[in-house]
Amino acid sequence: MTYVATRDRVEHYFDRTATKTWERLTSDAPVSGIRATVRAGRDRMRDLILAQLPPDLTGASFLDAGCGTGALAVELAGRGADVVAVDISPELIKIAEKRCPDGLAGRIRFASGDMLDESHGHFDYIVAMDSLIYYEPAMIAQVLGGLRPRLGTSMIFTVPPKTMLLTAMWRTGKLFPHSDRSPTMVPQSARQIGHAMAEASTAGSVREIERVTSGFYISTALEFAP
Ligand SMILES: C[S@@+](CC[C@H](N)C(=O)[O-])C[C@H]1O[C@@H](n2cnc3c(N)ncnc32)[C@H](O)[C@@H]1O
Repeated sequence: MTYVATRDRVEHYFDRTATKTWERLTSDAPVSGIRATVRAGRDRMRDLILAQLPPDLTGASFLDAGCGTGALAVELAGRGADVVAVDISPELIKIAEKRCPDGLAGRIRFASGDMLDESHGHFDYIVAMDSLIYYEPAMIAQVLGGLRPRLGTSMIFTVPPKTMLLTAMWRTGKLFPHSDRSPTMVPQSARQIGHAMAEASTAGSVREIERVTSGFYISTALEFAP
C-alpha cells in the first residue's frame, strides 16, 4: 500500500461507509457501552493534546490535519488560535461547518482535501488526532517530511501503540475490518517512526508524550519537532 492508496481507503470509509457512525460518536447522542469507552478515551486524548499547548493561543496558527467533525479545531479557536481545519472527507467537513459555533466561524477555515496540500499554508502548530492511525511508519515519515517545511514549532499526532494485545490482534487479522475497502489501524512506536524518518532522510525528531487507554480506545500522543 502507498500513502495515496491508504488515503483513498480512508476517504471512502469516512465519506461513505462510516459517516453516520462517526457523526454520532462525535456528538452528545447516546452510544453503546463499547462506543462510550471510545468516546471517553477520545475526550481524554483531546484534553491531553490541548494540555501540551500554551493556554492562550491568540495569534497562533494551526493546521488541524484530518479534523473530522471539528471538535479539536473548535477548542483551539476558542483559545484564540487561527485554524485551518482540513479533512479528506467532504461529508465530515460539512458536519464540522454546521457544528462550528457562530462566534468562532471567523477563526476557522474548513477545507476538504489532503492534509499534505501545500496550499493550506504555513503553521505554528499542526495537530492530527487519530488521523494517521491507518498509515504505516514509512507513510507517516512521508507525512512528517511533507509538512515539515510548513511547520514552525511542533506537531502533535497520535498512533495506536504497539502493545502486545494490539500487535497480536493486528497479526491475527482481528484489527482488519470486514469490508476490503475499509482501512486497517497500524500499531506502531515512536522508535519505528524514527527509523522510517531516518530511512526517508526526514529531518526532525519524534517523542512519545503519553498513552490514553479507555476500553477499546488505545492511542499514544507523539510530538514531532521539525
Ligand atoms: C479517526 S478520524 C479522526 C478525526 C478527528 N481528528 C477527531 O479526532 O475527531 C480520522 C480522520 O482523518 C482524516 N484523514 C485521514 N487521512 C487524511 C489525509 N491524508 N488528509 C486529510 N484528512 C485525512 C479522515 O478523513 C478522518 O476524518
